Amino acid sequence: MSRDPGASTPCRVAVVGGGIIGLAIAAELLCRGADVTVHDPAPAGTDGAWHVAAGMLAPGGESAFEYPHLTRLLEAGHELWPRFVAGLGDVGYDRAGTLSLALTADDVAEAAREWKHQRLTPLTGSQVRDLEPAISPRVRAGAFAAAEHQVDPRRIVAALRDRLRGRIVPRRIADLSELDAGGTPAATSTVAGRAGGGFDVIVVAAGHHTGALTGLPIRPVKGQVLRLRGDPGLLEHVIDGAADGRHVYLVPRADGEVVVGATQEERADRAPTAGGVHDLLRAALDLVPGLAEHELTEVAVGHRPGTPDNAPILGFLDDDRRIVVAAGHFRNGILLTPITARLVADLVLTGSADPILDAFAPGRFR
Ligand code: GLY
Repeated sequence: MSRDPGASTPCRVAVVGGGIIGLAIAAELLCRGADVTVHDPAPAGTDGAWHVAAGMLAPGGESAFEYPHLTRLLEAGHELWPRFVAGLGDVGYDRAGTLSLALTADDVAEAAREWKHQRLTPLTGSQVRDLEPAISPRVRAGAFAAAEHQVDPRRIVAALRDRLRGRIVPRRIADLSELDAGGTPAATSTVAGRAGGGFDVIVVAAGHHTGALTGLPIRPVKGQVLRLRGDPGLLEHVIDGAADGRHVYLVPRADGEVVVGATQEERADRAPTAGGVHDLLRAALDLVPGLAEHELTEVAVGHRPGTPDNAPILGFLDDDRRIVVAAGHFRNGILLTPITARLVADLVLTGSADPILDAFAPGRFR
């Protein structure tokens, strides 16, 4: 059954994927009056990229020089955060800002190019230590990005799951046709009843699994991430730095946890490696030696959903306009969560796409 673009607001929507993107889309649709269910094999699981994500809200630090459309989307997405978190309770939204650091002369040369692109003023090593006394005396230079914030993705997912209670169906979808009976849905208010089929629109937001469901080129990109725990006063700002060519970010939470990330590997396995952990810890301790006293509490592996241009895929899968794809966010899944939820909900409910989505349509890979 193909969808008539002029049809009235679709009321029954199935979201495939209960990660942060799928949940945020479902919550937005629910808030706007749709009858939405989320379909995920492990509704309380921790397999998604959100579980390892540090939660840096860094439109500048993660923006690609080469892809201005993505920079625009990241910046527009960043603006939505204050409103997005307002209804979620305490999700660790922290606006202390981010310090970008460079240890060696080579690190400074590389970072200087990015600081210029981000229009940040370079700071000397001692200016950096005035802002963050725990920084190593060996750090040569830095820059302060006041607008780059952080949030705790695990707390956001908990809040969204709570909001969608009773609407998350424990079910693995192997083929989208399982959801698309196209018939008249049973008049029932139970989750099982709503899960059956007859949906007006299906939103596929299943991270790197979206590739298998849609045929789109989305691949898993492995990231190893550590969690340390110690004195909550050691760091105030997010640190994003390079130490002898090793890139690392340190995201300090108010309770003393510090997230240390992340490797970026073109692999699909879930094994933490000695080399990955070593490189992260070495770079972290080179920049902030006091972290050596912290307890290593977690070593985790997740998979970013990457696309050929590493920009997200957002839009109708085909001319049938009944399947919407919201995946492939690569390194920017957390930052882009609120804007993805808003734009995808607009698309589902009105049938028309905001022009900012033109550069991210699934059709660009055909
Ligand atoms: N956004 C940070 C990462 O993907 O590692």
